[in-house]
Amino acid sequence: MSSSKHMLVLVLVLVHVFVFVVSLTCAFDVSYDSKALIINGQRRIIISGSIHYPRSTPEMWPDLIRKGKEGGLDAIETYVFWDRHEPEKGKYDFTGNYDLVAFLKHVQSAGLYVILRIGPYVCAEWSYGGFPAWLHNIPGIELRTDNEVYKKEMETFTTKIVNLMKEAKMFASQGGPIILAQIENEYGNIMDKYGEAGKSYIKWCAQMAVAQNIGVPWIMCQQSDAPQPMINTCNGYYCHDFKPNNPKSPKMWTENWIGWFTEWGKPVPHRAAEDCAYAIARFFQTDGVLMNYYMYHGGTNFGRTAGGPYIATSYDYDAPLDEYGNLNHPKYEHLRQLHKSLKVGEKAMTSGPGVTTKYVGADLTTYTNNATGETFCFLSNTNQTQDVTVDLMGAGKLTVPAWSVSILQNCTKEIYNTAKIGDRVSPSAMEKNIIFENPLGSLDWAWLPEPLKIKTQLKENRLLDQKTVTVGASDYLWYTTTFNIDEQISWTWTNATISVTTKGHALHAFVNKQIVGSQWATDGKYEFTFQKPVSGLKQGANSLELLSTTVGLANYGAFFDTVPVGLVNGTVQIIGAGNAKLDLTSNEWSYKVGLTGESKLYYDPNHNTKFKWKKGELVKGRALTWYMTQFEAPGGTDPVVVDLTGLGKGHAWINGHSIGRYWPSYMAKNDGCTPKCDYRGQYNSEKCQHGCGSPTQRYYHIPRSFLKPADNVIILFEEIGGDPSKISFLTAADGAGSGCTAAAGGSGANVCPSPAA
Ligand SMILES: *[C@@H]1O[C@H](CO)[C@@H](O)[C@H](O)[C@H]1NC(C)=O
Ligand SMILES: *[C@@H]1O[C@H](CO)[C@@H](O)[C@H](O)[C@H]1NC(C)=O
Ligand SMILES: *[C@@H]1O[C@H](CO)[C@@H](O)[C@H](O)[C@H]1NC(C)=O
Ligand SMILES: *[C@@H]1O[C@H](CO)[C@@H](O)[C@H](O)[C@H]1NC(C)=O
Ligand SMILES: *[C@@H]1O[C@H](CO)[C@@H](O)[C@H](O)[C@H]1NC(C)=O
Repeated sequence: MSSSKHMLVLVLVLVHVFVFVVSLTCAFDVSYDSKALIINGQRRIIISGSIHYPRSTPEMWPDLIRKGKEGGLDAIETYVFWDRHEPEKGKYDFTGNYDLVAFLKHVQSAGLYVILRIGPYVCAEWSYGGFPAWLHNIPGIELRTDNEVYKKEMETFTTKIVNLMKEAKMFASQGGPIILAQIENEYGNIMDKYGEAGKSYIKWCAQMAVAQNIGVPWIMCQQSDAPQPMINTCNGYYCHDFKPNNPKSPKMWTENWIGWFTEWGKPVPHRAAEDCAYAIARFFQTDGVLMNYYMYHGGTNFGRTAGGPYIATSYDYDAPLDEYGNLNHPKYEHLRQLHKSLKVGEKAMTSGPGVTTKYVGADLTTYTNNATGETFCFLSNTNQTQDVTVDLMGAGKLTVPAWSVSILQNCTKEIYNTAKIGDRVSPSAMEKNIIFENPLGSLDWAWLPEPLKIKTQLKENRLLDQKTVTVGASDYLWYTTTFNIDEQISWTWTNATISVTTKGHALHAFVNKQIVGSQWATDGKYEFTFQKPVSGLKQGANSLELLSTTVGLANYGAFFDTVPVGLVNGTVQIIGAGNAKLDLTSNEWSYKVGLTGESKLYYDPNHNTKFKWKKGELVKGRALTWYMTQFEAPGGTDPVVVDLTGLGKGHAWINGHSIGRYWPSYMAKNDGCTPKCDYRGQYNSEKCQHGCGSPTQRYYHIPRSFLKPADNVIILFEEIGGDPSKISFLTAADGAGSGCTAAAGGSGANVCPSPAA
């Protein structure tokens, strides 16, 4: 009896708690007109920043979101990554750094809104644009067009995500943080190539989205024919000239490219804070309502998620928060101040359109607060070289530097100018310094060869498309065959050449299990012809083993999903002296997906001790080699990186967690860097880049949560040959104020000599 009485009391308490929670999270309305997002009756301009949850870790999320909030963000934007959530058809994964709901709850508890870009095509420099590879192999499917098979898959996944959000009460209409959702992504850029089917597809996307009944507005970016009630939005470096296709829609900028992504073999992009601020001020001067940084924190392409091909593991993007989560000085501070200044004018800017007066060399745009009559002005000088002085009559004279915008409270008092950083950022924060410390001595390495005994899984008399065979299971596909040389080996075959045409992305060739060499495209394309001299041919049977490697599947462009990869429909020839030629193209080819070390978990220290790792003298410069060592975690709480100088190309794991592909031997081309960055004038990704002649990426982020206090294990799979004894573990401290000088190179990081050096 008494226990049931207790139960009743408990139930009453629970009811009480429940009512309390409900009252805290009551639904709110999100609507809009041409001058504001109207959230819970408040007329708002919104500053948002992209943070993609799989590009950091759950342990990093609260800090990144807090820094976003302190930096003046109102909202966090993210894509949803279909390939991560449904790696096999019908098998879903929302754990670890794929825990979308947990990420959004962190954003919510920080008091920020969410813009959820479901896609589910996301581009994002993400392998295959976020599509799971298995989609490609469904019979009859054609992606991103009016195709019933594809539309069914897209609708199933979109509904899955919407239902997940509804169950967690994530939409504003349910009291949650999501104020906007996106369907498709930049389809307008490529729609023409799909003809009429493209047009009917986008109409279907809109209807399918509306039928999800989420209670907040839907957007479509780069879609000038977006059907109502979809709001079309702008992506780009500048969006002041953009106008939505419905005069009642707010002008929104879903991707403000604050920098650019890094590609293997290229220098590291940089976009000056002054030009970023200029672009944003111009946008709000011209009736902008919502601006989202792409990216606010770019982060890391862990595992094999980098797209491309040839997109680097660092996705730093020169964002206000750097890859490791440190502040990117002075961009972070300069933009934080811009946000504060814009918010001063929020009431005026959302009252009605700006009224522009032209002065000689400058445009003055005035917004007036309907309720109070207070004014707020933008004064812009779009000339690249010429500063201009404007006489604002009663308000005196004001000089506006070239390529800058001044923000004027009451249209009289300059509270911000996009070109004046020094005014508010301490000189010590002017340069983005990261102090790298090396706390480690030499390491004891063990190594293990990747076996060349290749167990065949499939045989065909032709060369197949790599992604069709691997279905996303690995970067690697073996193409092997045997061939006969009938005659005695004479000068014809002592100095032969092997020639393989491939659609990419890198190829390692072996004859009779001896390495011939490695090659990849270097001209920005991905098709290339592998051509190297081969020795060791013998009379009778010979074997040829070709390991084709993808470096991120294509993620952008019309029909990107059908872009061939690997040796598909290519030619394979052994060319001897004279006119001797062995054409192996139509041989019987045997296939094996992935490495033995992948299937046997060589990269996982919990499973790999049963293999005979070789100790003693360290083998260097050997292709297809696994390396392992233990190390102590650097102390403190600063982010940790590993400098992989000395290695060639491959993949790295820390305590079994992938930290991504590595390729420090790939030097950025020598030209295209400028000693001094002039922020004035139109930005493009090749302007102001740095790191020419240095490795495109030398430092690789190790999230703290991957580490234990001691006995950490790093495992490397080296494809082309390297020297792991040169690597070192470092911390990446926010070095503002350290006074050390900036140096180019690495993942956008500047390096100071270690204090010990
Ligand atoms: C502010 O006033 C202008 C001019 O009277 C009007 O067009 C506009 O709708 C008003 N804005 C709001 C938000 O009331
Ligand atoms: C910028 O100003 C200079 C000097 O007055 C002038 O020659 C040039 O045409 C201007 N450029 C633009 C784009 O207006
Ligand atoms: C300027 O605006 C501020 C607040 O927006 C107000 O307190 C002040 O009185 C205004 N000054 C003038 C000269 O209008
Ligand atoms: C062997 O090949 C090299 C280039 O790989 C070439 O320079 C040389 O002439 C060749 N020798 C013979 C005997 O064909
Ligand atoms: C390769 O050739 C086959 C047979 O001609 C063709 O059906 C297929 O579409 C081709 N694949 C690619 C990726 O070019």
